[in-house]
Amino acid sequence: MTESGHGDGFETRAIHAGQEPDPATGAVVTPISLATTFAQTGVGEHLGYEYARSGNPTRTALETCLASLESARHGLAFASGLAAEDCILRSLRSGDHVVLGNDAYGGTYRLISKVFEPAGIAWSAADLTDPSSPWPDEVAMVWVETPTNPKLNVVDIAATAQRAHAAGAKVVVDNTFATPYLQRPLELGADVVVHSATKYLGGHSDVVGGFVATNDDSMAEGYRFTQNAVGGVPGPFDCYLVLRGVKTLGVRMDRHCSNARAVAEMLAAHPRVEQVSWPGLPDHPGHEIARKQMADFGGMVSFTVEGGEAAALEVVTKTRLFTLAESLGAVESLIEHPARMTHASAAGSQLEVDPSLIRLSVGLESVDDLLDDLRVALA
Ligand SMILES: Cc1ncc(COP(=O)(O)O)c(C=O)c1O
Repeated sequence: MTESGHGDGFETRAIHAGQEPDPATGAVVTPISLATTFAQTGVGEHLGYEYARSGNPTRTALETCLASLESARHGLAFASGLAAEDCILRSLRSGDHVVLGNDAYGGTYRLISKVFEPAGIAWSAADLTDPSSPWPDEVAMVWVETPTNPKLNVVDIAATAQRAHAAGAKVVVDNTFATPYLQRPLELGADVVVHSATKYLGGHSDVVGGFVATNDDSMAEGYRFTQNAVGGVPGPFDCYLVLRGVKTLGVRMDRHCSNARAVAEMLAAHPRVEQVSWPGLPDHPGHEIARKQMADFGGMVSFTVEGGEAAALEVVTKTRLFTLAESLGAVESLIEHPARMTHASAAGSQLEVDPSLIRLSVGLESVDDLLDDLRVALA
């Protein structure tokens, strides 16, 4: 049984874990607790909360729920995905080396190369889809994204964790694209999971948030210290919005995946499309690994069209339902040009994105409308 006592099913925990009816009123929705400070009956004697940066009841509900979904003992919520990443990276010491997948979110690259490298953290990019990609002799942390943003490459989490642990390194998996509904990295041997909760967890393009999960007690203690000491915490209303989003994560992901399958198959057969990347396509190089470690293949699709960058820039302005915008993972479909938008900060680096690539976040609209929209834009 989970902490909530409502059973073990994923969707049950999404709705109930950490979210018992409010004992004071019986309210079935977790209250948004706005208090910044909490009464003490004597010095240091209180009901578990002192000051809202250190802990807040709405945040506790969110952290408990998301930890349960990630099969984690510890969960920590942050003000953004990058604040969550920052907390993890602060555990490194000057001279430590991070291996970062060579296809990763541009903001992760920017954080590591522009903030942590000047502070003495060494890093290098590696093709983590290749089990024999060269790593330096001493590695403290391997930072995996899978499926990757924006190319949707698939990294074998269990094999990477085995290799990293043999080298004495910790493995962090950014699980933003897959979500715990489709993939649970801690069960596959990863040490830490990180999320941009802004995406599928929130699910409605109306909240920025981040999350970290681990089963390692001492790492969790360090993260909890950093969360309080640095203070990159989410507000209670943001926690409520992510909690509200997570209740429908399972049903949303099912539809994201089936709509993405229809989109990927249509694009793969389209004469103007050169290459489609969606891990569910049998010819995707990571298809077998994705089948092994994911319950389904996700709602993100990327593709290139004939005509290179100029054609890509034209297509992204021609859709009507797919809105040209950054971000992903919400109910509405989005289209973007990673090289000039989400991954512009990686220009000129090893993580630079092919300028002819287009990325889709396939939403929950009627699938025929989505297919028509793309066909018209490609015509
Ligand atoms: C895979 C991935 N990780 C992390 C982040 C950063 O999250 P946030 O924008 O919530 O700070 C993003 C944002 O797009 C992302 O796509």
